Amino acid sequence: MRAAGTGPILRDLAHGRLEVEGRLHGAANATLRCLVETAAGPVRCVYKPVSGERPLWDFPESTLSRRELAAYALSDAIGWHLVPPTAWREDGPAGAGMCQLWIEEDEGARPVDVVRPRAVPAGWRVVLEAEDGAGHPVVLVHADDRALQRIAVFDAVVNNADRKGGHVLADGTGAYWAIDHGVAFASEDKLRTVLWGWAGSAVPDDLLADVSGLHELLGDHYDPVDRWLADDEREALRDRVRELLRDGTFPIPGGRWPAVPWPVF
Ligand SMILES: Nc1ncnc2c1ncn2[C@@H]1O[C@H](COP(=O)(O)OP(=O)(O)O)[C@@H](O)[C@H]1O
Ligand SMILES: [Mg+2]
Repeated sequence: MRAAGTGPILRDLAHGRLEVEGRLHGAANATLRCLVETAAGPVRCVYKPVSGERPLWDFPESTLSRRELAAYALSDAIGWHLVPPTAWREDGPAGAGMCQLWIEEDEGARPVDVVRPRAVPAGWRVVLEAEDGAGHPVVLVHADDRALQRIAVFDAVVNNADRKGGHVLADGTGAYWAIDHGVAFASEDKLRTVLWGWAGSAVPDDLLADVSGLHELLGDHYDPVDRWLADDEREALRDRVRELLRDGTFPIPGGRWPAVPWPVF
């Protein structure tokens, strides 16, 4: 149970002394890798100050860090604990923002990959076919397991607009962690993901049972999630949960919005 004992780390992420190690390359926003002081010594974390958010045309300004908090709360509410412990930090070195525990990635255990068509690992799902820079065929693939299916269902619930391959971290224990939910919870449908391998197929009953539990918990108001979202976003979240329970299937790509984030990692 990964949920046990998250209280102290959440407190530390919110209040412990923060030392910036450096800026993360490839990050779209000012995403800083830091060390936070805890009783057990310094612990690595990610700090995303609101002041470092690059404005986006399709999301209200200065709301990305808040969406990360909503995603963390939702992953706990559904009982899946997919998002590393994430806290709101009022007094970071660059102002208020989110602070999230760093997960040491086991890159050899990545469940999403781009490979030659003949090198698709047994049992993996093919999402799309493309060409590499030299014009050779490649395919985007992902593993076919329950832990990854949870992330796909989670993304459908939070309406994640940016599930890149690099936003699923394998920690070497067989568990996957979901990160970077700054562009989730839009009220319009924006699901963009590399995890389309189950599109249209039935969501397993145990996962639907968890979604049903989430539906009850959310009710009309569930502060740990709702406090980070606008009214229309709270309503749209409940609509998506109801739709998922009604259809019982993984979403299929819509027409209007590019369905796969670019780059895929
Ligand atoms: N909690 C985390 N644990 C480990 N690595 C992380 C974590 N959060 C971010 N990273 C790393 O930092 C990169 C940039 O972070 P990301 O959340 O994607 O920022 P941005 O919102 O700027 O795209 C990620 O692709 C990942 O490699
Ligand atoms: Mg990112």
